[in-house]
Amino acid sequence: SQIHAFRKTLLDWYDVHGRQLPWRRDHDPYHVWVSEIMLQQTQVNTVIPYYERFMAQFPTVQDLANAPEAKLMKAWEGLGYYSRARNLQRAARQIENEHNGQWPQTAKGLQELAGIGPYTAGAIASIAFNEPVPAVDGNAFRVFARLLEIDLDIVKPQTRLVFERVIGRIMSPERPGDFNQAVMDLGASYMTAKNPDSAHSPVKAFNQAYLDGVEERYPVKSKKPK
Ligand code: ADE
Repeated sequence: SQIHAFRKTLLDWYDVHGRQLPWRRDHDPYHVWVSEIMLQQTQVNTVIPYYERFMAQFPTVQDLANAPEAKLMKAWEGLGYYSRARNLQRAARQIENEHNGQWPQTAKGLQELAGIGPYTAGAIASIAFNEPVPAVDGNAFRVFARLLEIDLDIVKPQTRLVFERVIGRIMSPERPGDFNQAVMDLGASYMTAKNPDSAHSPVKAFNQAYLDGVEERYPVKSKKPK
């Protein structure tokens, strides 16, 4: 079927061309989490050295929970949005104090932690714990809006739920973390916001908007939330 063919095409491409990134060396939830928080407002190439220094300074969630505030803020200097760093430490302390040092292993449980919303919970649950849940960020909105010509306004909060449902049906139940990260890599390479290169994309045969010559219409994004 179409869905199986799409999954296989995407994952075969990812196995060969997926980016080798420091936080992809293993599936440790601490590594996945810190990288996802850093990547929220900061580009991959900027994040890489910060991530490496952060892990050298705070190798475990316990180290982060016990870190002096000044040392943490210094490590974050240049990344901006310091509330992200404060929430990281809050969540580390929640894990240590309220969960006996054990990670919640589902997207639902992860959302109880400070600073972890639906996207980050989906990323950690799928990559670290193999839960078949989508991780819907800007990449996923863009990729699936184009593939399926979904014309819902991605600014509206209820649109996320539709994408989560649609992607949840399409994603690989065997390799949910790789599937989600393959979508991120597709969104960062061929299916970019500006000047996409869909003619060379591994999934061009599945890209309805490209096939119809209307890629620039997707995703639909209103100026003002309604
Ligand atoms: N952007 C957000 N999360 C990412 C990840 N895990 N890999 C690459 N880019 C990302």
